[in-house]
This record gives sequence, C-alpha cells and structure tokens, in this order.
Amino acid sequence: MPKHPGLSEPWNLRTSTLRPTIADLYANPPLNQPLTISGWIRTRRSTKAVSFAEITDGSTLRSLQVVLPHDKIPRDRIETDLHTGASLTVTGQLIPTPDRPQPFELQAESYTLHGHANPNTYPLQKKAHSLEFLREISHLRVRTRTFQAVFRIRHGVSIAIHQFFHERGFIYVHTPILTPSDCEGAGQLFQVITTEDSDPHAFFGRPAYLTVSGQLEAEILAMGLGRVYTFGPTFRAEPSHTPRHLAEFWMIEPEMAFFDLNDTMDLAEDLLKNLIRYLLRHHTEELTFLTERYDPDLLARLESTKESAFLRISYTEAIDILQKSGREFTYPPIWGTDLQAEHERYLVETYAQRPVIVYNYPRDIKAFYMRQNDDGKTVASFDVLFPGIGEIIGGSQREERLDRLESEMQRRGMNLAAYQAYLDTRRFGTVPHSGFGLGLERFLLFATGLTNVRDVIPFFRAAGQMA
Ligand code: 4AD
Ligand code: MG
Repeated sequence: MPKHPGLSEPWNLRTSTLRPTIADLYANPPLNQPLTISGWIRTRRSTKAVSFAEITDGSTLRSLQVVLPHDKIPRDRIETDLHTGASLTVTGQLIPTPDRPQPFELQAESYTLHGHANPNTYPLQKKAHSLEFLREISHLRVRTRTFQAVFRIRHGVSIAIHQFFHERGFIYVHTPILTPSDCEGAGQLFQVITTEDSDPHAFFGRPAYLTVSGQLEAEILAMGLGRVYTFGPTFRAEPSHTPRHLAEFWMIEPEMAFFDLNDTMDLAEDLLKNLIRYLLRHHTEELTFLTERYDPDLLARLESTKESAFLRISYTEAIDILQKSGREFTYPPIWGTDLQAEHERYLVETYAQRPVIVYNYPRDIKAFYMRQNDDGKTVASFDVLFPGIGEIIGGSQREERLDRLESEMQRRGMNLAAYQAYLDTRRFGTVPHSGFGLGLERFLLFATGLTNVRDVIPFFRAAGQMA
C-alpha cells in the first residue's frame, strides 16, 4: 500500500491507493498491478513500435518513465497529444527494469489527455533555461525541476522553523500587516489607502502602512507570553535594485522576555544550524540536484556551516580588521558608518571563512529601540553575516528603560504619541528582552546556492518588477 514518505501515520489509504504520486511509487513500488498516475510530460520520443514519455507530478524531482506501445495506443494520437508540458492521466502496470537506470517503468494500457501544450508556443522546451529567462515567466517556472527543488526547500525550511520554535516552547503569534507606525524608523513604507479615498486618513482616521516588521507587536506579546515568534510577509519600499532586496519578503522574528544579547546570539546561531541540519536530513534530493546544477560547493558549505562556531566580533573590532586588511574598498571602513556588502563579504569570506556575528554597532546607524550600551556610543545589536550573502539576521537587545527609550525617540524626532501602546510595555512591568529577524529569502539563497532572491520566492515583488 503506497504510503507518503516521511508520514508518521498512514494517511487516507483509499485516496492514496487510487491516486499515488510518483514519490509514492519510488517509496513503495506497487509492481505488477493496475496503476493510475497523473502528471505532465517532461519529454517524449517515439520509435516504430513504442513511445517513451517521462512524466513528473511535483511530488519528487524524479520522473516516471512511461512506455506506450503503439499496438495499444496509436502512434499518431501520441504524436498529436504528448508534447512537453501536456498533462495526462495514464493507466497501466509498473514493471521492474533491473537492467535500466530507473528501477521500473509504467507499461501504459491507455491514457486521458487533460491539456495540450503546443510545442510552438509552450516556452519550456527540453533544454535547460536560464534563471533570467524563467523570471520572465514566473507562472510557468514551477514546472521546472529547479523551481520544484527550490520551493520544496522553502517548504522544508518553513516547517523546520516552526518545529524549532515549537519544540522550545515559543508561541507562534500573528502580527498585523496593516500598521500605523514605522518599526525600523527607516521610512521605507508603503502607504495603504482605499481606491475610493484620496485622503490617507479617511479609512482608519490615521495613515496606515504595510508593516516593515512585526517586531513592535511581537515585543508587546512577549510581555505576556514570554517567548514568541512571528513568521510572515513584510514590506519595504526599498528602491535597491540588488539581488538581495525584495519589496515583499518573509521574515521570522522571535522575541524573548528575559533574554540578553548573548542569549539571543546563541539562539540565532542555534536556529541557523538547526535549519541546515534539517535540510541535510530531509532534502538531500533537492540539495544534490542544486549542487550539480548550480553550485558545486553547496553541500560541502552546508555541512561545514552546521559544524562551525560562528565568529563573534564587535563592530569596533570589525572596523579595525577591515582597516588593517590592506584591501581597497569602494567605501573606506570608518567607525560610525554602516558596514557595506563588500565589508561584510571580506569579514566572512576572507577573514573568518565561516559565518560572522558582528555586535555592538554604533547607535546612530541602528534603530531607536535598541538597548544603549554604557559607552554612550553603541547599542546592544547584532547582525549575522553569511558567506555569499552578507546579512541574513539583524537583531538586538531592546531598550527596556522608559526614560532612555523616550529620550532616544525624542532625539530622533519621532512622534511619541503614536507609540503609547509600545511605551506602556516599559511603563508596566518592563523586563530585559531581545529578539531578531531572519530574512527567509536571504537564508534560502544560502540553502539553495542560487544568487538572486527573486528565484527563491514564488512570485517576486521588487522595485520596478512584479512577477
Ligand atoms: O535588519 P532588519 O531590518 O531587522 C528588522 O526588521 C528587525 N525589526 C528584526 C527584529 O529584530 N525583530 O531585517 C531583518 C532581516 C535582514 O537581516 C534580512 O535578512 C531581511 O530581514 N531583509 C530583507 N530581505 C529581503 N529583502 C529586503 N528588502 C530585506 N530587508 C531586510
Ligand atoms: Mg538589518
């Protein structure tokens, strides 16, 4: 009886018996019995007596070889119907093929065609297409093994994130998408108005924006639930045309009462290694494919990262290392300025050759909510930098002292009236607390070996582009 791989209990057996997927066949081949399989044609070729079709159904990167004998199914019908991309349901028997690369093939008795794909107009023909080309047809790229591998890994990472936090007693909280305030204070907001009103105050009585981060609400919820995390879409009107910036991306934001900066850096490192271990355990098929196709170092890099102790250096040490590097940077590293991508990459790829956590950044280049250090110049913040990518996590201990927080907000010219709910958390039972944000797509670059965030989200939204 076919059983879905990885399932702890048998699922609806009736459904499974009637409609096994190709993954089910590889997990537990129902040989020499009647079988019905549905999918899409990857390739098809015909000889005089038989045609061979490779079909896929998204359940695995592997395809199923279908043999269609012309004495049962006329060759001209096959040649009219079965082009790359066409969809069908085939009935036949699964026959072992010990002398072929694939363990079995489906000997077809008959098939039903669901949809044609005209070979003159269907854009995905046999040859491998460039990722740039596939970005132009994001509604069809999911038919390729590349995107099936990437989206299956995206799924695996998402499951592993929930598992990680759930097992550690964190509560998954849903924070709003519509928000009245700018969490990061960076002003990269999309404003929301109705199609009826031109006045931005009309609907809510005050302006509304798409959230740039669920942090402020997560902090509020952590003040009752203790340890929480969000996992949802966030939006930034970021004009950056880089391979690492999206206007809509997904962020995971844990927030923990009574955690200090060190506890939080430990949690971040633990999470990242845990995700890598999960992928190596559950997604070897996809990782192997991506290693062969796109990034020969992928598997080795995942293996080495899960073992390595991330290097932890303060921002001040980082600037010192960069200044002594002898490198000609486009932006000279000067204390007080933000680290550029070129600096981050030097630290990770040349200096440490493993992930780096930089902490205690200057107060003026970081957000208002970060806890002020005693030196009066830096805040208890940290960024996790990864090879090939740069920043994948940004986080901090939060300023829990009301007077310090208010004066910092005033210093930045913020409207305190808009943050009264947030400030109440410091008025009533304030506690030391910390959190961070992991960018899902940035992590997926690392996990897939791809180099553009547009290729790790099903439908990308970036400045100038909506797929
Ligand atoms: O460093 P950021 O801006 O931090 C925050 O938003 C905090 N509120 C998080 C927190 O402490 N709860 O963003 C966090 C991460 C970055 O490290 C990066 O991985 C990702 O979000 N990120 C983006 N990913 C894709 N496109 C963009 N435009 C991104 N901006 C940030
Ligand atoms: Mg950041």
